[in-house]
Amino acid sequence: MPNVVIVGSQWGDEGKGKIVDLFTDRFDVVVRYQGGHNAGHTVQIGDETYVLHLIPSGILHPEKICVIGNGVVVDPFALLEEIEMLASHGISVHGRLYISNRAHLIMPYHRLLEEADEKARAEQKIGTTSRGIGPSYEDKMGRRGIRMGDLLDPELFREKLRANLLNKNELLGRYSHREGLSEEETARSYLAVVPRLKGYITDTAEFLNESAAAGKSLLFEGAQGTLLDVDHGTYPFVTASNATAGGACTGSGVGPTRIDSVLGVAKAYTTRVGGGPFPTELANSIGEHIRERGKEFGASTGRPRRCGWFDAVVVRYARVINNLDSIVITKLDVLDDLPEIKVCVAYRYRSQVLKYFPMDVSVLDACEPVYEMLPGWLSGTAGIKEYASLPERARHYLSRIGEMSGTEISLVSTGPDRRQTIVMAEKSRLQRLLPLVPVS
Ligand code: IMP
Repeated sequence: MPNVVIVGSQWGDEGKGKIVDLFTDRFDVVVRYQGGHNAGHTVQIGDETYVLHLIPSGILHPEKICVIGNGVVVDPFALLEEIEMLASHGISVHGRLYISNRAHLIMPYHRLLEEADEKARAEQKIGTTSRGIGPSYEDKMGRRGIRMGDLLDPELFREKLRANLLNKNELLGRYSHREGLSEEETARSYLAVVPRLKGYITDTAEFLNESAAAGKSLLFEGAQGTLLDVDHGTYPFVTASNATAGGACTGSGVGPTRIDSVLGVAKAYTTRVGGGPFPTELANSIGEHIRERGKEFGASTGRPRRCGWFDAVVVRYARVINNLDSIVITKLDVLDDLPEIKVCVAYRYRSQVLKYFPMDVSVLDACEPVYEMLPGWLSGTAGIKEYASLPERARHYLSRIGEMSGTEISLVSTGPDRRQTIVMAEKSRLQRLLPLVPVS
């Protein structure tokens, strides 16, 4: 059975939750490999809507195993809240959720230091989700982080906490002008959750490799998107992890030769939350219209998302960086009412037309999008399940954005429900590996 990575091809919020959910039936294990509870994956099943931040959305399928890999940063309280939310819907994670003992913890000082850091950046702030994600990764790279496995040894946990607090309390005093955190209180609150979590903490790399060797199939669920990747995104306006396909390997301990295919997800337009350059942004009534129709408000923070036209330069870049086999286009129906739709085909920087995505955000900020104007279809596409039933202009739009992005479109989503999906007829590599069938 194939092992597949699903990644966001824009700035996150592409609708990966639904796509992962659609594919989950075909896999044995679903794996999160980076990020933390900054992510928000919304899945609608019938009348119920679930928003998951940390636990892979595969958990909604009772027979599937879900893994939070070593590349994820975990706030144990947010994790417990999610486990309880699922329990309140009658979904038990017992025996189906494994959390890496190597995953790093988010500590209370991470959130406080992030707040101080964002304040200090003033106009240049990243606009983070304020969950302590970045500072937790900083400590991981600084080789002073505390990991899930450390929770299982209270003495070791206290020792590591003590060493961290020496430095963090000084920083908090200096930058936040606040009293330091109490070692006793912090240790007590973290150790108090251990009895409820320890059954899930394990060596997930070992579990995943044994599962793959035994012929089980793995689905890697990316969070955020390619342009938020700390290496390949619009640095410094990025998240602190590798949201691209390569992160699936380092963030899970599964080697690259085990990955058979990478599927990208992109909206039929573009959105971004937080600060940073966004060449096709529409700071006007069209952007407002897309935001309202697409319900473009952050799943984790509720912040209004910035909206703009489809940017083929971005998706082309995502195709290259992730070596995407094909892409899924989501939220096509949001564009139904627009008489004209623009697509960015290139960037003009001073007198040059750039062929590749620029590294420098000041260059990106100064780029003018070169647009191709396409006619809108001005009719409803919500819920359409057959490609042939789409208005001709919507088909033309899809075919142009596929061509401009240099990648095949394997699925089109026309609504939040699993059934509101068009399976494209062409045979992509993914489809050869994993034949897609419409959900009835
Ligand atoms: P952080 O991940 O909280 O550090 O935030 C860094 C940047 O990534 C900010 O611009 C956030 O808005 C953005 N970000 C983080 N998670 C998501 C997500 O799930 N969807 C979209 N943007 C996100």
